Amino acid sequence: LVTQDDIRFQERIDAEDKIEPRDWMPDGYRRTLVRQIAQHAHSEIVGMLPEGNWITRAPSLRRKVALLAKVQDEGGHGLYLYSAAETLGVSRDELVEQLLAGKAKYSSIFNYPTLTWADIGAIGWLVDGAAIMNQVPLCRCSYGPYARAMVRVCREESFHQRQGYELMLALANGTAEQKRMAQDSLNRWWWPSLMMFGPSDDQSAHSAQNMAWKIKRFSNDDLRQRFVDATVPQAEFLGLTIPDPDLRLNAETGHYDFGAIDWTEFNEILKGNGPCNRERLEARRKAWDEGAWVREAATAHAAKRAQREMK
Ligand code: ACO
Repeated sequence: LVTQDDIRFQERIDAEDKIEPRDWMPDGYRRTLVRQIAQHAHSEIVGMLPEGNWITRAPSLRRKVALLAKVQDEGGHGLYLYSAAETLGVSRDELVEQLLAGKAKYSSIFNYPTLTWADIGAIGWLVDGAAIMNQVPLCRCSYGPYARAMVRVCREESFHQRQGYELMLALANGTAEQKRMAQDSLNRWWWPSLMMFGPSDDQSAHSAQNMAWKIKRFSNDDLRQRFVDATVPQAEFLGLTIPDPDLRLNAETGHYDFGAIDWTEFNEILKGNGPCNRERLEARRKAWDEGAWVREAATAHAAKRAQREMK
């Protein structure tokens, strides 16, 4: 049933008005935003784990400082996004509870292991590169708080992408062994990075409605294609080979054609059967449990202060 409210709402969307927390919105719009923003926030928080794994083993002080800053940025993005979700009437505690209970999704990409130092470069270059491709259009998303959060997040992501590419460049121009490490991590991260954009358009349940509501501005396949087109020349500059025998520039379209994505692997990860799904959730649960005393102390402190102010 389409109501007058729905029609007026769609008119505002079509006129490029931003929707703000106190504005009327259809339940479905609110639900899909909570879903997407929460998944996005969880991805940032879980995304700290694969890279955090290498902080203590960074090969120099300069690399360590950059990696620490990046992982800290991701924690900040997660908290920022939980706040954006809270403007829609859910609480951060509820969302965290869903994550820890294994009921919430987060990006498939963070269920792969970081086996070598080169993976830190590949993540910055490819994973953050893919994240930017997807998130820059979200700066123009119809929901005000999410759109505004994305502006800052994208600026920081672009620093992350550059540090990753610069790291890959150092390895690619290094010893034969360093170059081999860089190639091996490109081999392992390439296909999972393409999967980050989500299922192909004909399989994407939410795309049509999200595009009509201008939450999404481009489809999953469009963004994936843009990412491939932007990244292939970067790999060539590094002197590395993208692990796809079907990859070639299509002279007619001006875009790179690429091979078939293994959607079975993607679907298994979404079901919780990826290489690191269990490890990631265990790490989050451990952090939550070990942080209990901080939450208790902060609550006790706030209560004491409130009591003092009442006197
Ligand atoms: N990993 C895990 N789940 C995914 C992924 C992925 N890479 N891609 C799609 N899905 C899930 C969707 O969340 C959806 O699940 P649900 O119905 O249970 O909620 C289902 O697969 C179907 O996908 P779509 O219909 O295409 O979903 P949607 O329209 O939401 O598009 C997308 C998916 C592109 C990821 C979108 O939600 C989005 O742009 N999110 C914001 C960006 C983001 O979350 N980035 C996280 C990684 S980047 C980073 O944190 C550094």
